[in-house]
Amino acid sequence: MLGLTPNEKGPKELTPREIVAELDRHIVGQADAKRAVAIALRNRWRRQRLPEELRREVAPKNILMIGPTGVGKTEIARRLARLTGAPFVKVEATKYTEVGYYGRDVESMVRDLVENAIGLVRERQRGEVREEAERRAEQRLVDLLSPAVADRDEAELDEKGQAAEKGHAGETPSDRRARTKEKLRKMLAAGLLEDRPVELQIEQRTAAMVVPGLGPGQMDVDLQGMLEKFMPKQTTRREMKVSEARKRLFEQESDALINQDKLHAEAIELTENLGILFVDELDKVVASDSRGADVSRQGVQRDLLPIVEGTTVQTKYGQVQTDHILFVAAGAFHKTSPSDLMPELQGRFPIRVELKDLTKDDFVRILKEPTNSLTKQYAALLGTEGIELSFSDDGVDALADYAFRLNQTQQNIGARRLYTIMERLLEELSFAAPEMKTGRVAVNAAYVHERLESIAKDQDLSQFIL
Ligand SMILES: Nc1ncnc2c1ncn2[C@@H]1O[C@H](COP(=O)(O)OP(=O)(O)OP(=O)(O)O)[C@@H](O)[C@H]1O
Ligand SMILES: [Mg+2]
Repeated sequence: MLGLTPNEKGPKELTPREIVAELDRHIVGQADAKRAVAIALRNRWRRQRLPEELRREVAPKNILMIGPTGVGKTEIARRLARLTGAPFVKVEATKYTEVGYYGRDVESMVRDLVENAIGLVRERQRGEVREEAERRAEQRLVDLLSPAVADRDEAELDEKGQAAEKGHAGETPSDRRARTKEKLRKMLAAGLLEDRPVELQIEQRTAAMVVPGLGPGQMDVDLQGMLEKFMPKQTTRREMKVSEARKRLFEQESDALINQDKLHAEAIELTENLGILFVDELDKVVASDSRGADVSRQGVQRDLLPIVEGTTVQTKYGQVQTDHILFVAAGAFHKTSPSDLMPELQGRFPIRVELKDLTKDDFVRILKEPTNSLTKQYAALLGTEGIELSFSDDGVDALADYAFRLNQTQQNIGARRLYTIMERLLEELSFAAPEMKTGRVAVNAAYVHERLESIAKDQDLSQFIL
């Protein structure tokens, strides 16, 4: 146990209400789904506070999000990830194939999660050693620069500082070098040398090993790790600017200061206790019959089951116990229903939330309300060309109305419809904007109708364009 106190190591200490409020800033409606994920998240936090013995017993309440396409399933997960600071990976169930089939094996999702955790922990630990690493990086920069400067710039440096250095006539070469370094340090600190080239020794990543017959990511992890250890570390020298070298040196120095074993252990613990795996498109691995490719799909479910139930996955950094990883699965379940999943798997997703179809009012709100709503995005984009784009209420209303009606008459693609409509609406403007220099464009109902009506009316045309 690392003594994960949520403030410093775990995800941010948000209450369910706060989580929902945060999600509300980006996603319209879908209150049930937001509540469910908020509760599940808080439950992890609660579990962390239980005595060891009890903690082991509390299994995560996995969530299955069901709903039509384009209503925010993936979006909720994506936002959740940014919010929590917990290790999070989103995978598509369709990406995997049963063991033995060509493709990625299901366990690799756990490995991806650990990689994500490594990144998070390393980031935090780098923060902890930041000062020392920066100091060391600066020192190395000075060392790197000083021979060059000694040759090329000593004269120049002396010229500049002559008045002040009259008194140094009798100094030894080592005094002189120390003085040069001191000067360099000052110049570096003042940002005067940022574009100066330096040569740096950098380690090259061993190229991914290719074993005949195995796809990338399929090689047994242990083997991969072992091979990496045996391969000689490749280093090359590269010339780069001081500004870039400083970043590289900082990374090198902070990695040297961080205890790698501790990092790995901490990342694994974080993964096991707070990791979230979002499995999208789960409905697509439900077999509609038991022939052909469907056999492999059913196989993915079978492979998924032990991971969801709790198993040990071997990773490059050590073994990961998956018992307490939270799974959030999502799927449209159009032609199939959750009851077509393997019974064991169904039981592992006790919380079902249904996401609702979006209404015209939802579209109005989606266009206007989210922090970075579509209308705000387009206004900002065209703002860079000096165009002041504004949307009136009746304009937004008209847009939402088109989106809603097209979803009814054409295929229902949910909020994604807004993207195609907006693009079409502003196509002309986006093209001509640079020549317009400045100007105001107000998108009102008339503007919308003028550009969309004829296309929307024509069934064939709208199928392709909107
Ligand atoms: N309720 C909503 N509020 C705001 N934006 C939304 C909402 N629903 C969908 N969107 C937007 O529509 C797009 C598609 O949504 P998302 O990716 O969440 O669909 P999905 O439900 O995962 O669909 P699919 O089943 O096809 O994967 C996203 O860019 C998202 O921003
Ligand atoms: Mg999705």
